[in-house]
Amino acid sequence: MRRPLLAANWKMHGNCSRVQEYLDTLIPRLDACPAEVVVCVPFTLLPVAAMVATGSPVAVGAQNCHWEEEGAFTGEISPLMLTELGVSWVIVGHSERRRLFNETDETACQRAGAAQRAGLAVIYCLGETLQEREEGRTLEVLGQQSAVLDRLDPQRLALAYEPVWAIGTGRNATPEQAQEAHAFLRGRCAALWGEGAAADVRILYGGSVTAHNAQALLAQGDVDGALVGGASLDVEAFSAIIRTAPCA
Ligand code: 13P
Repeated sequence: MRRPLLAANWKMHGNCSRVQEYLDTLIPRLDACPAEVVVCVPFTLLPVAAMVATGSPVAVGAQNCHWEEEGAFTGEISPLMLTELGVSWVIVGHSERRRLFNETDETACQRAGAAQRAGLAVIYCLGETLQEREEGRTLEVLGQQSAVLDRLDPQRLALAYEPVWAIGTGRNATPEQAQEAHAFLRGRCAALWGEGAAADVRILYGGSVTAHNAQALLAQGDVDGALVGGASLDVEAFSAIIRTAPCA
C-alpha cells in the first residue's frame, strides 16, 4: 500500500514570518497523520522552513534546481545547495516552468537526475494542455513526456499528473479523468522499471485541488496524493486536504 503524499506548492508566494506561522500551525496537526506531507516554498524561504520543520513530520521542498553541482549558471540553484539547507524534496518540470521558462522533457529530466544523485526526492510533473485534451491526445502526450523517466531512480520519485487546463483555473480534473491518466502513467512506470517498482511509485494529482474535491480524487485507486497550489497557501485549507487522505 502506498503512503499518501500531500505536497504544497507555494509557487512565488509567502515570506519568512508567514512560513514560520504556517508550519507552527501545521506541524502539531500531523501527529497521527497517515500521510507524508511536503511543503515546497520559494528558495529564499527554505532556510526558515527547514529550520522550523527540523525533527517534525513535515518535509521541506524546493520548486526547481539546476543539473550541475556548481558553475557559471547565474541565477540557478544546485541540488547540493538545497540538501545543505535540509531540503529533502524538489519539484521538477512544473508546467509553469515548461510554459514560461522553456523547460523541456530533456532539461526536466536532467534536473531530476541531478537532484536524485544529490539525495533529493523528486516530484516530477507532467500533464496535457487543454488543446491536447480536446484533440484526444492526453495519453499520447503523457507517453511522450514520460519517455525520459527511464533515466531516473523510481525509489526517490513521485510523479505529479497536472493537467495544464486545471492549474489555477478552479476546474479540476474529474476523479475519472485523473484515474485514467494515473493508471496510464503507472503502466508506463511498469514498462520502464517493472511491475514492482510501478506499484510503489506514488502518482499525485495537481490542478485546482481543494478541501471539497480532494476526497473524491484521492479515493481513486491510482491517485496517491495531491500537489496543491493555491489552496496550500491557506493552512486551514491544506490541513483539510491532508485529512481527506485515506489511511495507509
Ligand atoms: P492550483 O492548485 O492552484 O491549481 O495549482 C496546482 C499546481 O500547479 C501545483 O503544482
